[in-house]
Amino acid sequence: MSNSIFDAKNVNFAYLGKYSALRNVDINIERGQKISVIGANGSGKSTLLHMLDGLIFPDEGTVKAFGRELAEDAFNDEDFSKDFRKKVGLVFQNPDIQLFCPTVREDIFFGPLQLGMEKKEIKKRFEELITILGLGNLLERAPHQLSIGEKRKVAIASTLIIEPEVLILDEPTAGLDPLTTRHIIDLLVQENASGRTIITSTHDLHIVEEISDIVYVFSQEKKIVKAGHPGVILQDAALLHVNNLTHIHAHSHNGKIHIHPHSH
Ligand SMILES: Nc1ncnc2c1ncn2[C@@H]1O[C@H](COP(=O)(O)OP(=O)(O)O)[C@@H](O)[C@H]1O
Ligand SMILES: [Mg+2]
Repeated sequence: MSNSIFDAKNVNFAYLGKYSALRNVDINIERGQKISVIGANGSGKSTLLHMLDGLIFPDEGTVKAFGRELAEDAFNDEDFSKDFRKKVGLVFQNPDIQLFCPTVREDIFFGPLQLGMEKKEIKKRFEELITILGLGNLLERAPHQLSIGEKRKVAIASTLIIEPEVLILDEPTAGLDPLTTRHIIDLLVQENASGRTIITSTHDLHIVEEISDIVYVFSQEKKIVKAGHPGVILQDAALLHVNNLTHIHAHSHNGKIHIHPHSH
């Protein structure tokens, strides 16, 4: 069996045929890898992740998943579509897109019931996830009554419960407090250790090392300008700086405010 999960070749994509969002993108992802995608706002990260999830298709070039080209006709094939949706799970950057049931509990149960997973299995996984993510006291609430961080945790639970072979996460720790971020990273690392492929976009350089075997850096031109091991990418101060990824810290010293970049 081939180990290739995704193989994108020379992909170009523009929204409505005019707002360019991916340019000449090549990316190859193998089973069990941890991949991260970093870059400034608007550099194409979400677009790439949506394409890997089969929500949009290239204008030029090809994306293959598990050896088959991802195109509209592949998703018209019900067997392929169902199998793909079971294998690949996406946590959207905006949790409001993902949550639509009257209660948090129903939202988390929705996907696995839809996919025909066994009730007993769902229940077991549900208990684990709500404990890890601390969602126990939110289960009867309406998702729209939650804070953004709480919504994000529910969205993560509703994807992880399906136990997809490939987890795609679009800025999963944005807006989360440090302890919750820690729990989520631990969870992702654990999912990867059990064989799942994880693909994460983020701005949070603190988490990059743990969630990446390979980091792809997108530029404002919607191109991948660099790919490499996290140790190498995170040392490249000039690359991070031109791509808006350096934190600028301000602190007060002898009554004056000093501003300087913060390196990792
Ligand atoms: N629905 C859309 N319609 C038109 N342009 C869009 C849409 N979504 C994103 N874009 C544009 O595509 C480019 C890439 O966006 P996106 O993939 O969301 O970037 P990122 O996730 O890196 O912030 C940006 O220039 C953005 O303005
Ligand atoms: Mg995005």
